[in-house]
Amino acid sequence: MENVKVGVFLSDCGGQLPKILDFDAIMGYVKGIPGVVLVERSSEFWRGEGIKKILDAVKRGKVNRVVVAESVPKLGEINIAQAVEEAGLNPYLVEVVDLKNGCAWPHRETPREATEKAKAMLLAAVERVKLLEPIEKIEFPVLQSALVIGGGIAGMQAAMDLAELGFEVYLIEKEPFLGGIAARAGTFFPTDDCAICIQSSTSDVKTVTPTSRKCVYRSGISEVPNLKILTNAKVVKVEGVPGNYRVTVEKRPRYVDESKCVGCNLCIEACPVEVPDDYNAGLKTRKAVYINVPNVYPPVPVIDEDACKFHECARCVEVCPSDAINLDQKAELVSLNVGSIIVAVGFREFNPSVIKEYHYDDYPDVITHLELARMIDGFGPTGGMILRPSDRKPAKKIVMIQCVGSRDRRYNPYCSSICCMISLKHAILIKEAHPEIDVTICYIDIRTTGREHEKYYERARELGVKFVKGRPTEVFMDPETKRLIVDVEDALLNRFLELEADLVVLASAFVPAEDAGEIAEILGLELGEDGFFKEYNAKLRPTETKVKGVFICGGAVFPKDAPTSSLHAHSAAIKAAKFLLNGKIVKDQRTAVVKEEYCGDCEFCPVICPYNAISLVQTGNGHFVARVSELLCEGCGVCVGTCPLNAIELKNWRQDQMLTQIRALLSVKASKPLVLAICCSECGHAAVDSSGMAMLQYPASVRVMKVPCTGIIQVQHFLEAFKAGAQGVMVVGCKSDGCHYEVGSQIAGRKVELAKILLKEYGVEPERLEMLNVVYIEGARFAEAARRMVERLEKMGPLRLIESV
Ligand code: FES
Repeated sequence: MENVKVGVFLSDCGGQLPKILDFDAIMGYVKGIPGVVLVERSSEFWRGEGIKKILDAVKRGKVNRVVVAESVPKLGEINIAQAVEEAGLNPYLVEVVDLKNGCAWPHRETPREATEKAKAMLLAAVERVKLLEPIEKIEFPVLQSALVIGGGIAGMQAAMDLAELGFEVYLIEKEPFLGGIAARAGTFFPTDDCAICIQSSTSDVKTVTPTSRKCVYRSGISEVPNLKILTNAKVVKVEGVPGNYRVTVEKRPRYVDESKCVGCNLCIEACPVEVPDDYNAGLKTRKAVYINVPNVYPPVPVIDEDACKFHECARCVEVCPSDAINLDQKAELVSLNVGSIIVAVGFREFNPSVIKEYHYDDYPDVITHLELARMIDGFGPTGGMILRPSDRKPAKKIVMIQCVGSRDRRYNPYCSSICCMISLKHAILIKEAHPEIDVTICYIDIRTTGREHEKYYERARELGVKFVKGRPTEVFMDPETKRLIVDVEDALLNRFLELEADLVVLASAFVPAEDAGEIAEILGLELGEDGFFKEYNAKLRPTETKVKGVFICGGAVFPKDAPTSSLHAHSAAIKAAKFLLNGKIVKDQRTAVVKEEYCGDCEFCPVICPYNAISLVQTGNGHFVARVSELLCEGCGVCVGTCPLNAIELKNWRQDQMLTQIRALLSVKASKPLVLAICCSECGHAAVDSSGMAMLQYPASVRVMKVPCTGIIQVQHFLEAFKAGAQGVMVVGCKSDGCHYEVGSQIAGRKVELAKILLKEYGVEPERLEMLNVVYIEGARFAEAARRMVERLEKMGPLRLIESV
């Protein structure tokens, strides 16, 4: 066994700390701790001459464990870890404590007590560092390829970005043509250009001049050498690990061979079958073999297998000059190996039929904005004319109803965010082309929050669009005139209105793509309560997910306009590129380790692990044991806190290491009741830090122990703390929905509640234990809670019945 030699390096912060702490007493105390072979004092140890002293001691073999008391702990930790590693010592054999913010400053009014606390902190650090083990790095390969699921604006953009960065990219679209919901929208705000406009390729694609944007079919997207597009295809299985996914894609038959089709459209002309055209909202018919609109990608018709009579008819086969029709084509499974995946499946329009008062299903002249968009589109079913679907006569009066299925707790409580702008855009387009049409928009609030968006509102008003503030209660049909009437209370003028309309247009909510749930399950991704894909962190990591190497963007995350979708796509692409770029993942093995001899058949840890890092594998004797993926484990310890058999441990946070630290912290007594504050390394400890930085005072009898996440804590730790002399225990973690490891804080909260019940059973006051959920800026809350805890304990008197615990 290695002879442990601990070096302790005490920074006095340029002589500031000795004004509060008795450094001579501290140094004398530390020298007496078994295992300590060297104690040095300096102004600072995280850089300059100070760090040279540490490195010198390491290089000369004087020490093989290092404890540093430093006043810039985080920065110091990083610098010291890097330096000792270069000097040949594993960086995990170093402990850094902060005697300034964690001791001197918050206890400056009680210097003697602070000095005693400093001794306890250093003792705990020394005892811990003696038990630490080196942790090595492992490398995992990352393939230089990516899959993008969804061929709308975001998907196309992300695929193009990645391909142009040199990665092999597969773009999968479930529909037969690229474009997504955007392609049906006609034009976009705020640029007023076509929806199928995308950034043109800057790759070496001949004949494509890179300009600010181009139509999809002119963009060169299909010619980028390392970008492969699969339409009419969907992902059915994903296996493997981040950096090395095996994806199975089902490519449904198109029945028209893309490599042979010459785009003459003779098959479409010859087809005798006519069915309602869904793409054009059923406002016209199409053939069983069809393309949506001219100039789609791919420019190859597809056969609708629900409508086609196949070999009974086969007229398309007869007329095709290039032998491209294959009525016997079958679905095929395509296997792809990719390092990263981007989900860009978009969103869809909410079906307003369920809102009975608007009679979407009953009255043909009640339509949605997507249907209106098709009418406004020159390629659409009415060639740009605004007609009543019931009799195809021009509409003279149009009433638009906002927030249909949005901001409505019966359906979707959220604001769909783009419906106001879509209504304004459509109202303007109609008024500009047909000034005689009367357009009224019934709204709750008009939301025009983007750049240039308010101009649409102003322009609509200038063009004579009327606005009524109120959510209509009903749309009904006058039995005699057959005209639609919209009942609405004008909230501004406080009057009831009956608005006549030829056409009622519903600004229907936008909801998650139909296959969002299926894709989330295949990829192990989470959906929010609204059904959209959940980001890793909405503020800072909006296009990442908790699954490494899998990213999300565009409307898959929430309804978005085109500029935001595009921005999101660039972000996802750059995140994916960053993930792929090194060709490997280098990871410290700060992972959980299973003691198989104790592990037995329960499924707690695989279920609780926020990163799907634990699976159950069958052993030779038929039992199942947990197996931790070294690649996926993030080292939070939530599994440790959950295991009922203590069969799983986190490297360097083993039970003996934690208990030793607890005992050491509480072994140096104080005049006030001792409190152990177990803090997570994230918001919990940051709040403790910030209270110290702000010099907020709390008793020095509060001893702080840092753990990766409060999810690692077990009831046993509370009991051990009480046994070791704590009169109270605080658990300080992130907000319950803000844990950096997803669920740790919530689990800790439940454990604290459970422990309180147990304590009561033992006759111990449950008020001796509490959980505090904080963020960094709430240092004052921590200091206040610590003061109150000590006051409470003083009133309660010493802990009794401790023997029974
Ligand atoms: Fe703070 Fe989990 S990281 S409680």
